[in-house]
Amino acid sequence: MHKNVIFCYSGTGNCLNFAKNVAENIGGADIIMMRKRPEITDVTEAERVGFVFPCFGGGAPEDVLKYAKEIKVSPSAYTFGISMSASYAGIGLSTLNEIIPLNYWATVTHQCSCIWLFPHDLMMPKLNVADAQARSEKLAWEVAASIKLKRNKDKKPPRNPVNAIENKAWTGIAAKKAAQFKVNNDCIACGQCVRLCPRENIEIVDGKAKIGTNCIQCLGCLQFCPKSAISIGEITDKREHYHNPKVTVDDLTQSIIHVEAAFSSGT
Ligand SMILES: Cc1cc2nc3c(=O)[nH]c(=O)nc-3n(C[C@H](O)[C@H](O)[C@H](O)COP(=O)(O)O)c2cc1C
Repeated sequence: MHKNVIFCYSGTGNCLNFAKNVAENIGGADIIMMRKRPEITDVTEAERVGFVFPCFGGGAPEDVLKYAKEIKVSPSAYTFGISMSASYAGIGLSTLNEIIPLNYWATVTHQCSCIWLFPHDLMMPKLNVADAQARSEKLAWEVAASIKLKRNKDKKPPRNPVNAIENKAWTGIAAKKAAQFKVNNDCIACGQCVRLCPRENIEIVDGKAKIGTNCIQCLGCLQFCPKSAISIGEITDKREHYHNPKVTVDDLTQSIIHVEAAFSSGT
């Protein structure tokens, strides 16, 4: 195992792209995906252990918190957490900090993938995809510089009470939305959504994708569908689809990604 380990949850690629950029700039890392149960949970040999995940409904995706409870980190390891969102970070880092105390944390915004709630370019100031990506890459470089030097954050991660209320209601809201998935006749039964779904909630029935209700709302199926055949109500048909321009379905479906250092300097 690499001495740097990053656990990553990503639905539409923003977090995976950020994790890769951080990894490259801290001297390389093993990125362990936590879309499904992580392949490795005992990382007591790692020197730096980080988490990169999106804000969903004001907090961390529930599977991030579930799997974080199983992860074993050395008491001497340097730990960090990064929450990516469209506009506000929510309480995800604060909740993770209660499970795995974090030496360092950062909140970063990127394009929105919650197509039924917000347009994907919901950002302040408004940015196009290329500019948002460039900004995210610059931020990853800055965050990586702090992580490489093992800087500590003297403040606790944010815990806005309004986000806490929102996050409490989120599971119910997400479940209701999950029941509204529709797959239209443009579906070619390619099976990409089946492969991508982290909850194994999609199957091909009678030559068409069928989405069940065990959904975490990562929206990978909808945003990566090559035929834009998946929707959640009419609003998603009207909105431009988005996934991170540098991340593919193949990237997202790996369980461990080995990332080399961008520069061969000491770490
Ligand atoms: C279901 C869902 C809920 C989201 N909720 C929030 C939110 O509460 N606040 C926010 O600022 N962004 C929210 N977002 C935006 C994501 O945090 C943002 O798009 C993130 O970059 C997605 O990362 P990913 O591409 O790695 O999945 C949400 C996105 C999704 C799909």
